[in-house]
Amino acid sequence: MRKILFVSVIALVCLLAAGVGVALAQTGDPKRGAELYAANCAVCHGADAQGRIGATLSKDFSSINEAAFLQETISNGIEGTRMPAWSEANGGPLSDQDIADIAAYVAGLLGGSEPIAPAPTAAVAAITPAAGVTGDPSAGAVVFAQNCAACHGERGEGRIGAKLTKSWPALNPSAYVRETVEKGIDGTLMPAWLDENGGPLTKADIDNVSAFIVSVSAGQGSSATVTPTVATGPLSAAAGWIILAVVVVLIGVVVVVYYRRA
Ligand code: HEC
Ligand code: HEC
Repeated sequence: MRKILFVSVIALVCLLAAGVGVALAQTGDPKRGAELYAANCAVCHGADAQGRIGATLSKDFSSINEAAFLQETISNGIEGTRMPAWSEANGGPLSDQDIADIAAYVAGLLGGSEPIAPAPTAAVAAITPAAGVTGDPSAGAVVFAQNCAACHGERGEGRIGAKLTKSWPALNPSAYVRETVEKGIDGTLMPAWLDENGGPLTKADIDNVSAFIVSVSAGQGSSATVTPTVATGPLSAAAGWIILAVVVVLIGVVVVVYYRRA
């Protein structure tokens, strides 16, 4: 009887130790990384990681420790370029675990693969244009979700980039926004988006996205902004082990109580 108890306690401790070991050795979850990539990186590096405003990432980085190189580059950004610093320690929006997950995804990209959570291609609802805008704000909502939300937030509330849902001081807000988006803002992370300026968007795209920003800022259809659906990933390995440990401890307690009674 005592022997059974002793053996089960030892077995429990071994299981827990193994769980903690696996949790610590876990470096990154590429599935979760794929979703984070789609939400944060695809805008510049392309949905297929072949490069867009940013460099091609589906390649061999030929670094001795690729995971460490990727994590450091993503955390710190690349000074003097458009590559932002993403870690919370550097004022960015991503945790160390997020960055490890993305690095694991990028490291496994060789040859290119589809992102798990592609950017939306249709607006959720029609948006009423504000007075004086020329573009189509509903089409602009899609352009925004695909290109701007990563920095300006899903609803333009601000993230790495400025808050865009505000009252615009310019006499002609839509002309001001359009020009800013076409040319970018030198010396900041805000890229130039117009194809003539080396960006990925046409004049019509920019007209539409400007109409979206100004219309939403004017409070028209602010409830109709596009919310890209980033599917929540599977439980991380660490969380899985913690849950397993809790279950094992519970079973252990039940067994002990049962034997004490018997
Ligand atoms: C605003 C655009 C932008 C965003 C968003 C962005 N990057 Fe970059 N990234 C760049 C640019 C531009 C470069 C190339 C910098 C240079 O000239 O060396 C780059 C370079 C890199 C490199 C180094 C590539 C190499 O060949 O050494 C990595 C790795 C990288 N980015 C990963 C990411 C990841 C992961 C994300 C998302 C968390 C991300 N980037 C988001 C613009 C961006
Ligand atoms: C890599 C991040 C990034 C992306 C992607 C990005 N922006 Fe920006 N944007 C910024 C930053 C940072 C600023 C603020 C620059 C500054 O310090 O003045 C800014 C500023 C702006 C401003 C001026 C705000 C003001 O108050 O004057 C507008 C308008 C704007 N962005 C629109 C867009 C649109 C539209 C898109 C998508 C087509 C976009 N941005 C994509 C980073 C980004």
